[in-house]
Amino acid sequence: MKRLVSVLVLSVVLVPGTALAQGVSEEPIGNLAELMRGLMFPNANKLFDAQAVEPGGPVPEMNSETRDAVSALIGSASSRFATIYRGWPEVAGAAVALADGAKLAMLPGRLCDNGVPAPVDQADYIEGARMLEEYSIDALNGAREQNWDAVWEAVNYVNESCTHCHKTYRDGPDSRQEPRCEVQ
Ligand code: HEC
Repeated sequence: MKRLVSVLVLSVVLVPGTALAQGVSEEPIGNLAELMRGLMFPNANKLFDAQAVEPGGPVPEMNSETRDAVSALIGSASSRFATIYRGWPEVAGAAVALADGAKLAMLPGRLCDNGVPAPVDQADYIEGARMLEEYSIDALNGAREQNWDAVWEAVNYVNESCTHCHKTYRDGPDSRQEPRCEVQ
């Protein structure tokens, strides 16, 4: 039934002259915490991995314990496909996600998890997003050149961009403390 509906919708959109193709929405879809969990957190972790171990090296030998743990997980798509873009392409992809993610953090109208509007008009928040974009681009260029030192250095600055926003708009003593996103 689901498939039938999408075929019908497609044919309406594709018949020339009958309807204008609609672009994607310009509205934010999730709240800021969801964007952070879905985009910033996993991709920043990939960059931190790239600092810990030089990308593009040989896949480490698995001992039998690791192999058992992997086969217990192998059912999931993320573990099965984890090595497809491994190495420099994975680092470049993570850097692009973060650089473009900075724009998504700036979309007007996005709320924080607690219902307070994301402080997209505040200079220090805007500066955090700008830093995230700039240093992620540095990490991207380093990954494209396969220059580990350059990536290593850029990732330190990416981390600073996260802190630049979090110290004011996220972190209380235990980092989950409310109020978040509130303008002082
Ligand atoms: C432009 C400002 C800004 C930048 C840059 C930024 N964050 Fe955030 N982040 C926030 C704010 C504000 C919150 C609180 C969001 C909420 O409560 O809805 C947050 C929340 C989070 C959370 C917690 C989500 C939760 O479960 O409550 C994580 C994880 C996170 N950020 C990761 C990162 C990482 C990693 C980076 C850097 C790569 C980063 N953020 C960069 C502003 C930013």
